Amino acid sequence: MEQLELLYEGKAKQVFATDDPERIIIRYKDSATAYNNLKKATIVNKGVFSNDISSMLFRHLADAGVETHFIERLNERDQLCRRVSIIPIEIIVRNIVAGSMAQRLGIVEGTRPSNTIVDLSYKRDELGDPLINDDHAVALGLVTYDELKQIYAVTRRINDLLESLFDSVGITLVDFKVEFGRTSDGRIILADEISPDTCRLWDKQTGEKLDKDRFRRDLGKVIEAYEEIDRRLKSLGK
Ligand code: TMP
Repeated sequence: MEQLELLYEGKAKQVFATDDPERIIIRYKDSATAYNNLKKATIVNKGVFSNDISSMLFRHLADAGVETHFIERLNERDQLCRRVSIIPIEIIVRNIVAGSMAQRLGIVEGTRPSNTIVDLSYKRDELGDPLINDDHAVALGLVTYDELKQIYAVTRRINDLLESLFDSVGITLVDFKVEFGRTSDGRIILADEISPDTCRLWDKQTGEKLDKDRFRRDLGKVIEAYEEIDRRLKSLGK
């Protein structure tokens, strides 16, 4: 597999073409951003842990039958993935109220609602990634209602699988974000990453935050939190 030109550079990752048009290499960087790029920093080795954690989680989901873009982890920073066209919608799942939902609706962070909440946000930096609903997503031409139905069903399955995986290593999956992409033959599969950058993960015993909120909220020990998540998942032999 030969790495070719840089196709895209995002806040936390670079995407390279390969000599196979159906495959890309995703490289995890050490940069951290928050609040729509207002806060930025380099966190040494964050990319290494995020790559390792996301690889383990994607393997776990694939083993359970969730179709994903992930093919293999190539080295400390790189993954080989299927090339997809990303659907510019962030699907956010909330098992416990935290972050923007707690703020927006005046709910105490840590409240467990009786239902699971799914938010959609339109990936457009210049608009500040606004929340949208199903009708907006269809009106914008991003997805059909049938595709949304499929995306919601897979997302709920991902939530069940990840909630119980994290629970088995003493962690509460508070919320997380996923993205989907279209393959060249028109299927919709899980893409992007799942890591402490894209999840809220709280220690079940102590409530300690083991995710990117340590960076967003200046809590310190950011890399230690990523390392701890990596260590616990590794203990499962993933
Ligand atoms: P929020 O509280 O900012 O809405 O975030 C909810 C969850 O989704 C949290 O785990 C972080 C994740 N997330 C991303 O990964 N990327 C994003 O752009 C947003 C808005 C949230």
